Amino acid sequence: MHFIVNGLQHDLLLDTRMSLLDMLRERLALTGTKKGCNQGACGACTVLVEGERINACLALAVQYENRPITTIEGLGDAEELHALQRAFIAHDGFQCGYCTPGQICSAIGMAREAARGVPSAVTTDLVMEEVELSHDELRERMSGNLCRCGAHNGIVEAIQATFVREDAA
Ligand code: FES
Ligand code: FES
Repeated sequence: MHFIVNGLQHDLLLDTRMSLLDMLRERLALTGTKKGCNQGACGACTVLVEGERINACLALAVQYENRPITTIEGLGDAEELHALQRAFIAHDGFQCGYCTPGQICSAIGMAREAARGVPSAVTTDLVMEEVELSHDELRERMSGNLCRCGAHNGIVEAIQATFVREDAA
């Protein structure tokens, strides 16, 4: 099967039961994407597929043939970090770092969802073309990404610093 991950092409012979998470970690050695619960509860495995955030542990790899996948390794590197990665450092958005790749991929997908008006459970105006990321919106939209270290305050601050206009915070 043919996969496109972080802009690189990969041809793999796969067990059709393999999750996207296991494919990324065990076949492509992209271990930045983490396995936490392996059952869709923690968000540690979040990656972007065609810009949309998904839980890679709940996805079968074969569903994502020929669809551009972005993992944390594709967002930035040690020489040139993504703006959100820099903000996580500046705002103490992590402690052990295990949830961090998922938090960052999820936040990027979340910001795109809000920008195109996708409502959340706390959105009051359902016909807005763009949802402003208030504190409540941001916390609700990131609620699928858990941090066992309790770095949530820093995580929210880092996301606000990167994606939220000052007049909307
Ligand atoms: S490892 Fe996928 S949601 Fe927890
Ligand atoms: S930084 Fe440790 S789980 Fe989030």
